[in-house]
Amino acid sequence: MGVSGARPPGAVDEAGAAEAVREMFDSIAPRYDLLNHVLSANVDRLWWRRTARRFREVLARPDAAVLDICCGTGDLTMALLKHRPAGARPILAADFSRAMLSRGARKFGGPGVGARKPGAPYAVALEADALHLPLQSGSLDLIVTAFGFRNLANYEAGLREFHRVLKPDGQLGILDFSEPGGLVGKAYAVYFRRVLPAIGQLVCGKAGAYNYLPVSVGNFPPPGEMLELMRATGYVECEWQPYTFGIAGLYTGARAAIA
Ligand SMILES: C[S@@+](CC[C@H](N)C(=O)[O-])C[C@H]1O[C@@H](n2cnc3c(N)ncnc32)[C@H](O)[C@@H]1O
Repeated sequence: MGVSGARPPGAVDEAGAAEAVREMFDSIAPRYDLLNHVLSANVDRLWWRRTARRFREVLARPDAAVLDICCGTGDLTMALLKHRPAGARPILAADFSRAMLSRGARKFGGPGVGARKPGAPYAVALEADALHLPLQSGSLDLIVTAFGFRNLANYEAGLREFHRVLKPDGQLGILDFSEPGGLVGKAYAVYFRRVLPAIGQLVCGKAGAYNYLPVSVGNFPPPGEMLELMRATGYVECEWQPYTFGIAGLYTGARAAIA
């Protein structure tokens, strides 16, 4: 297996890669939501909703312990919250970029945030690194992540850390971009590699992040390899569900009941 992890330009090792990713997201946080919706023509909302729906059974259990890791500005967290019952245990929403997380916390935060009804489901923000989660082993029923896993400095270490904190039978969902094949793939490649970085630079005033996005997707293991890595790190029932012609897709798996 040739998989390792994200390597933004200039990063020579895993610590450098993580630092570069964190700084990049801190710097684009003020424009992140706007750009996301513009660049994806709001299709990202459908992807988050579809991902949340996939896990509705576990989300419907009031006592389920749920983590949205790499939650960023919290849109997946908001979609997950729609499936939580009143009075449910809060979702943990974690990210290592304080600038992204603080924006998320304004959307999904606890009873003090906005005009929340008493008992309405909410999430708590946790500043944490996905590769070193400050959580007890075997404590979570569900880990979900959207467009963050691809940015981890070591994919295998990420899967192992998620495995450590999941309960036996606990579920994992990883939503991320993919490179579709055929004609759609060719058209999309032009948009993704040329148009998207140009718009990103125009709106953000920074070239780096939106040049890095297509490069990081190109370096991310294709579905077959990701599924193999999930199985090798202790997950069962591993599947990949393509979304929108395979532009994105959801990896699902469960921690083996006896591990
Ligand atoms: C592309 S954003 C996705 C945010 C959000 N999940 C969404 O769907 O819009 C990726 C996020 O992953 C976070 N991230 C990347 N590597 C991380 C790590 N090792 N630990 C915690 N967060 C990380 C970044 O800070 C960023 O907020």
